[in-house]
Formats: sequence, C-alpha cells, structure tokens
Amino acid sequence: MSLRILTLLFFFGCSIVLAQKPKVNQDRLEQRIFELAKFGLQENGETERVAFSDADVAAQKWVMNTLTNLGLEVHIDFAGNVIGTRKGKNASLKPISFGSHIDRVPNGGNYDGCVGSMASLEVLEVLNENKITTKHPLEIIIFSNEEGGVMGSRALAGHLGKSALEVVNSTGYSMGEGIMRLGGDTTRIKEVARKKDEIAAFLELHIEQGGTLEKENIDIGIVEGIVGLKWWEVEFTGFSNHAGTTPMNARQDALLAAAKFIIAVNEITNSFEGAQVGTVGKINAEPGAPNVIPGKVITSLEVRDLSSEVIEKVYHAIESKGKEIAKASDVQIEFRPLDTTADPAIMTSNIQDAIGKSAEKLGLSTKRMPSGAGHDAQDMALIAPTGMIFVPSKGGISHSPKEFTSAADMANGANVLLHTILALDKKL
Ligand code: GLV
Ligand code: MN
Ligand code: MN
Repeated sequence: MSLRILTLLFFFGCSIVLAQKPKVNQDRLEQRIFELAKFGLQENGETERVAFSDADVAAQKWVMNTLTNLGLEVHIDFAGNVIGTRKGKNASLKPISFGSHIDRVPNGGNYDGCVGSMASLEVLEVLNENKITTKHPLEIIIFSNEEGGVMGSRALAGHLGKSALEVVNSTGYSMGEGIMRLGGDTTRIKEVARKKDEIAAFLELHIEQGGTLEKENIDIGIVEGIVGLKWWEVEFTGFSNHAGTTPMNARQDALLAAAKFIIAVNEITNSFEGAQVGTVGKINAEPGAPNVIPGKVITSLEVRDLSSEVIEKVYHAIESKGKEIAKASDVQIEFRPLDTTADPAIMTSNIQDAIGKSAEKLGLSTKRMPSGAGHDAQDMALIAPTGMIFVPSKGGISHSPKEFTSAADMANGANVLLHTILALDKKL
C-alpha cells in the first residue's frame, strides 16, 4: 500500500474517532440505573415507585442532589418537575432541554423513564469532564407523574386543567395532593407554562417498550410520532343482593355486565382497520364478597391511536355497545372521561434528522418508527421543536419487572443524546 493511501486511511480513522468524542461512561450510567432502583426496593427484589409515593419523593431528592453536585442550578417547579439548568456561553439563547421521568407504573420495571433520566445526568457528567460549555444553556427536566397522565409535561405545555388535579392514582393521592408532596404548589401551577418559543429544542431518550429494534437488530429508533391516548372511568351500577337466594333471572349483576363490556372493548377495537388499541386495565367490584352479587363495578378504559379522530370513533362504538350491554343486564352504565388526555404528536423533522446524523457518526444503525407508548415528549412537542431517541427493549417487554435494556444499548442511546445536543447547539 502506498504511503499516500496509508496517510489517507490514518486521517480518515482519526476523523471517525474524533467525531465520536466525547463518549458517555457506560458503567457509570448502568450504576445509576441500579442506584435509582433502590428507591422503593421491596423484599422480593422488585421496585415500586408510583408517583407521589415516599419512594418517588426520595428518588426526586436524590436526583436533585446529584444535579447540584454536577454544578447545576436546581429547583422543583410548581408542578413538581425537577428542573436543572447549566449555563451556556450565550445567556440570551433559549435553552436546549432534555429529560424523562423516574415515576413508575405499579409493578413496573427499572428502565421506563429511568434510562432517559439517568442518561441525561450522564450527558451532563461527560460535558463537565470534558470541560465543554455549550453556546445554549442546557436544561434537564425530570417530569412529575408521567405514568398517571403526563402531569408535569402537561403543566409545562399549559394544559393541565383543574379537573386533572382531582384524578387519584394507586397511592391514594390525587394529582393535586401529589404535586404538594413533591414540593410543587397547585395554587401557582399555571405559572410553569412555557411560551411556544421559550425552548430551542427538547429531546427525550427512552426505551422502545416494543420488540421491533431487537427483532430487526437495530441500535437506535428515531421516533416519527407518538400516539394520543384517552382514559375514562366506566361505572356499572346494579343491585347488591344475596348470592344464594336471588334466582339467576332476577339479578342486577354489575360485574357480569362489566365482564361482557371488557370483551366488547377488545372486539370493537379489533373490528376497525388500523393500529388503534383499546384496553380495560383496572377493575374494582363492590362489595367484593363471594356470597354477594356485585352491585357496583368501576373499570378503566383506555384508547390509543396516532389520530384523535380514530380514538373518538372507537370510543363512540364502545360507548354505544356498553349502553346496550347495560340495558340487557338491567344495570346502569356511566362513562366519565378522565382529564389525562395526551394528544398525538409528530416529532420535528430536522430534529429527527439531527438524531439520525449523530447516530450515523457513532456508527449506529437506525430506524424511523412510531411510538405506541405515551411520553412527556408529546406534550413538549406542543411548545418546542421535539425529538425522541429509542433504544431496544429485551423481548419487547415493558411496564413489567421483566423490562430490560442492556448497558451497551443504554450507552448507545446516551451517546446519541449527547451528540444530538452538541449538534443542535452548533446549528440552532
Ligand atoms: C406511558 O408509559 C404509557 O404509554 O402509558
Ligand atoms: Mn411507562
Ligand atoms: Mn416512560
């Protein structure tokens, strides 16, 4: 090989290495995931950390301390979000914001929200280590109560209404009570709303929560859009009576009606063309005794799709079938919409491109894809140019203690987050 070719190869190799720098510390990132999982650790080795629980409050304090130690200015806003800011060279520029959530669904896993949150800490750590000051100020946001209705991000987007504050999660606290527990202030919540042009860009790294990336052996998902979702509470009122003396043809069994309804939700959702999903994930029957006919049942109902019109169409079909079932079962039915709605959101195309280029520079494979899970990014998209980075979920499992993403995949995602922030800092 001639000297000229060798020299060219040497410079080409060096330029790839330089382009990849700086890099996140994979071990430190994984250690932080393990550290975070200790908040709410149960005797069975699994972690419970539903929003507003003592574990959630303690984890939030730990994140704040860590951010303070990283030299950021840290506070809790009136909606209970942790906000940390790192000065940029030019204070007149709008911040580049990034983050995720640390609250979990009941019986959830260690990676949903936690990967994006801990990777955001890692990005700040690497910038410090490499003495990099961006032009833009950087802002990390750890959103409050993502799992119970994207509460913190809806407040930032200015559409967390009064009725949302009354929605109660499995801790027994309402969102309003929860905000106070987290150190927010419900009387001033409107003040956290950001104007449309206050944030230069928002980025969220997250586990895919589905199995596409793993199956296709792809490192990074570039999210094109996030489904919208709506929740309702459905109440069936029958008549509680003696299970031994009430003949089968004289019952007003609310649980039996609810059971038929649950099957109907599945059938109706399936009956339309498209990728919409409908779920009954929660049920409570009263009085809850083997020898009493259930007189009252409350179930949840959730419908998701990339189109709000489809969500409405599916819901109306479910509602009319529910009424039919209730009538035939001699019970009353009531649908109560919950104020937890997240609208479908399209991710900003030049941010999708910036994520793709950063991944390419790092030698990572990518795929553009939709998100079937809800995320804080969908509300942030209402007020800022927004993008989302996905990393693979083992077996496509999520919202389960079996949720898993390897340290290498987490580090890939964190590196893409880091380099996308640096690229946007130069470009915006
Ligand atoms: C959030 O995790 C959701 O999609 O429910
Ligand atoms: Mn989740
Ligand atoms: Mn999540």
